[in-house]
This record gives sequence, C-alpha cells and structure tokens, in this order.
Amino acid sequence: MPDKKRKISSELRSHRWFGPESLRAFGHRSRTLQMGFSRQDYEGKPVIAILNTWSDLSHCHSHLRERAQDVKRGIWQAGGFPVEIPVMSLAEVYQKPSTMMYRNLLSMEVEEILRSYPVDGCVLMGGCDKTPPALLMGALSMGLPSIFVPAGPMLRGNWQGKTLGSGSDVWKYWDELRAGNITEQDWHDIEEGIARSAGTCMTMGTASTMSGILEALGFTLPNASTIPAPDSNHPRMASDSGRRVVEMVWEDLTPTDVLTWASIENAVRVLMALGGSTNALIHLIAIAKRAGFNLPLELFEEIGKTTPYLVNMRPSGKYLMEDFHYAGGLAALLQVMRPLLHINTMTCTGKSLGENIKRFKVFNSDVIKPLESPLLTEGGLVILRGNLAPNGAVIKTSAATPSLLKHEGNAIVFDDYNDMERRIDDPALNVEPSSILVLRNSGPQGGPGMPEWGMLPIPKKLLKQGVRDMVRISDARMSGTSYGTCVLHVSPESWIGGPLALIKTGDTIELDIEKREINVLVSESELKTRKRSWRPQIRKFPRGYGQLFSRHVQQAHEGCDFDFLSGNAEIDEPEIH
Ligand code: FES
Repeated sequence: MPDKKRKISSELRSHRWFGPESLRAFGHRSRTLQMGFSRQDYEGKPVIAILNTWSDLSHCHSHLRERAQDVKRGIWQAGGFPVEIPVMSLAEVYQKPSTMMYRNLLSMEVEEILRSYPVDGCVLMGGCDKTPPALLMGALSMGLPSIFVPAGPMLRGNWQGKTLGSGSDVWKYWDELRAGNITEQDWHDIEEGIARSAGTCMTMGTASTMSGILEALGFTLPNASTIPAPDSNHPRMASDSGRRVVEMVWEDLTPTDVLTWASIENAVRVLMALGGSTNALIHLIAIAKRAGFNLPLELFEEIGKTTPYLVNMRPSGKYLMEDFHYAGGLAALLQVMRPLLHINTMTCTGKSLGENIKRFKVFNSDVIKPLESPLLTEGGLVILRGNLAPNGAVIKTSAATPSLLKHEGNAIVFDDYNDMERRIDDPALNVEPSSILVLRNSGPQGGPGMPEWGMLPIPKKLLKQGVRDMVRISDARMSGTSYGTCVLHVSPESWIGGPLALIKTGDTIELDIEKREINVLVSESELKTRKRSWRPQIRKFPRGYGQLFSRHVQQAHEGCDFDFLSGNAEIDEPEIH
C-alpha cells in the first residue's frame, strides 16, 4: 500500500458539501433528505458515484442497470453512500459515424461529473469497446479512488451446432454469402444465433482486450475482466467491487497510485500476449498521457519482440471468452506471464499484482499457452514505418496471412468509404489477388473518428475465385474482431495531407513485415510534385461538438485524445458557495 494516512470523515471530499454549518451545506443536506435519505444514510460516509453507461440503446450493457444494484449493495454494506449517475453510452454497433468520435466526450463527462459533485470515489461500469478507456481517462484526470466493473463478455454464439464468435464470424459468413456459399436463410439464422445474451463481444475484440488491460493495470478485482456477463459470479464481483471502493476512499488509494510506468509496461505486455485489438494502442497511448506519461509506438514494438502470443482466441486463434475464463481467465494468464511482468505494481485491492494473482492457475493449456510453447514467439502486433507512414502504422500479424507479410502489389485507391462501397464489387474493377486496396479519408479527422473500416471487403469477383485475404491499407481502425492483412492507423492521416493522400491507383506499394516497413515505390520528387497540387479539405462540421472534435483531436500515434485534455496539470477543486 502507498504510505498514506487513513482518512477520517471530516477529511472526505464530500464533507465540504455536507459537513459545514453554512447556508450552502444546509441546502445540500436538505436536498438529500428530500430524496428520502436519512442523515444516517450518508452522514460521515464516503459518497460513491456509480457511473453507469447503461441505456436502452447500449446493447452490450443491457444488464448494467440491474448490476448497479449489486454494486450498491456492496457499497451500503461497507458503510458508503452509493449514488448512481448515468453517463453517456457508447454503443459500438449503433453509434455513427463512430464511437471513437465520442470516447473523449465521455471521458470529459466522467471527469467533470466527478469534479462538480460531492463524490469521494467511483465505480466505473462499462465494457463495450470505447467505454473502458473513456471511463478510465476521465477518472485518471479527476484522480478520485476508482474501480472498474467490466460488463463481461456475452455467451458463445451458436448456429447449426457451430460456435459463432462476435464480429469475426460475421465477416467470415458475409464473405461466404457474397461468394454464394451459404443461403439467405443461413445468414438470417446466423443473425439470430450470434448475440445470445447480455455482455460484450466474446472474441478477443476491443472490449475483451481493453477490459483485460484495465485489469492488468490494476483497476479491477482479480479475474473480473473475463467473467461472462450472465454468470452469477458477475453480480458477486460487482458487489465485491462496491465493498472494495469504500475502503479505497478511506485508504486514499487513487488512480495515480495504480497507474505507473511499470503498470503501463505490464498492460502493453498483456496486449501482446492476448493477441489483442489494434485499437488498444490508441487507447493506451491516450490513457498514459492522462497520467503524464509519453508512450511511444516504439515501446509496443520493443515489448512485442519479447512477449509471446499466448491466448488462443478468435479472431487470431480458436476459442472465445467463455473458454478463456473457464481455462483460468485473465488472472491465470498473468500468472503464466509472471516472469515477464512487474509484479510489485499496486492495484485497486491495495495489494500488489503479484499477490492478487498467486492463487490462479491454468486449467486448459490449449486456450492459455505456456510460455515455453506459445502460439507465436512474438506479440501479434507490429509497428510499421516508411514513406507511406512516417509517424507509424500498425498491423495485427497474428490475424494476417503469413504469405502476404512480404508483398508488393499495385494500389487500387478509394477516396473514401462511399467511393469504396460504390466500386468494390464492380465487375469492371481492375483488381487481382495481388492488388493492394487503399482507403483514405478515414482517419481521426477524415472519418471522422477513425471508423472501423480498415478491413476493406474483398471484391466479390475475387471472393468467387476463392480469395479470402489481400493487403489492405488505410488510416482507419478496424474492429478488434476483424482479421486479415490490414495495415491500419496510417499516420499522419490523408485528410490532413499525409502520404496516403498522394497515392494513385497503379502505384506500387511494398509491405515488408520483417523490415517493419510500408513504402510506396514512387520517387521523392514525384511525391513532392503531387503534394504541391494537394488541397486541404473543408472542415465537415460548421459548429458543435464535431467542430470541437476536428479542431482538437490528435493523430493516431498520439492517442487521438484532444490536445487540451492530455497531461496531468492539476485543476483546483470547485469552490462551494
Ligand atoms: Fe459492444 Fe462489441 S459491440 S463489445
């Protein structure tokens, strides 16, 4: 535990609202009584905000309204005063143009709600892709004791006795439908079988990756991130988290006690061992920045070289989150990785990571591989540079086709998503299996919000020839559930004049994973000539949040946070008058 004095009631932050004999405190107390609470419900107790991302449109969080009651039970039992506060839902499938456009907005909401209300600590409830990083970024910036309750993965999908994985099997069977290999009825039946319960995508997509990362960072109870949402262990974990956060307030155990450079390195290692989502790079960079750390892409590269890929899950491998949990879960993976981790990092339990995981073990070594026989000796994510991506790009090699990892081909350029959609299945498109599909204007500003368009569809005429993967390049992201030889997050993006804006159909592009390079084989002078005739795009948003977003969002290699949110400069507590 950090060397801090245990708090007493009069030192609680909420005491400034409720404690004094003043006109303002009178108002705060009388309004609490107005809501039906007695003095003994709240007086002298830590006020715990349960920040709940439930909504009727939040498909992965449909159980969180009920789960908040379990959290409350724990908080009451531990002597706290629970207050549930709804915060923005980022529902991955529904929200357009992209939930990523709203990650920073949720983080701002979290920070400002915690700052402006009488709150001593918080429980962060969520799981769908952008929600865990957004909640943590806001909590880090405010700095109150915080614990994360992951929404948990949904149950395995099922179709005709076959196991279906979120996202991954959608892309797979969509191609089979377009190739004429399954029927419309099959496709309809898959729709009914792929999402069978509450919870997040049960592949190693962004939700599973980010929840695992928040556990590795130390913000959940041990093994919380892999418990399936419908499992009765899930509400028990929720009430345990409620009990624990009250203690965290008395101990003054804050997010910056938990998030250190060592815990960030652990998180990067866990990302590599999971074969996790490429989105995690962007989120981890942004999270680190909120705590004042600069996390360069090179560190992912460096740590990736010494971290084996261990968790055999789709889209890179075979299994799903239920299998991972029954095989021992995230804590068992951490136990396997023990020699590679900083095990003395502090966690929300008040104990070190090493103490938290010591009772966990692996029950199925085909799901969680031993260090000595990994799925790959290096992590599944590789950082690329070259004249196409001076500030970096990423590829998930664990989900790519090995024979395409060194490849030269002619570019077919799509100016934006609409252009791609119009032409991709055109029989006249001059495309071959060796072609390289390029999509531009899909980055942080161009998308806007870097939509998950990076797994460009394979042209129908090639699907019918049996082609299932091609090299694809974009400044977009791709879903963590996606797969294929997709170069993503090209930075700087084409919208602001990055090299992707200068490529023409027919240019030769070379991808060389071993050399970590992505280059267009066009002379520097020709690229300069093309740059001179490039014209900046007109901003898409004349006003409103979109205007704020496009003015302040940073590039992919910088974490896509707003420039004014990064950093850890202290902000004064609000005056109470
Ligand atoms: Fe919510 Fe995948 S859509 S986690």
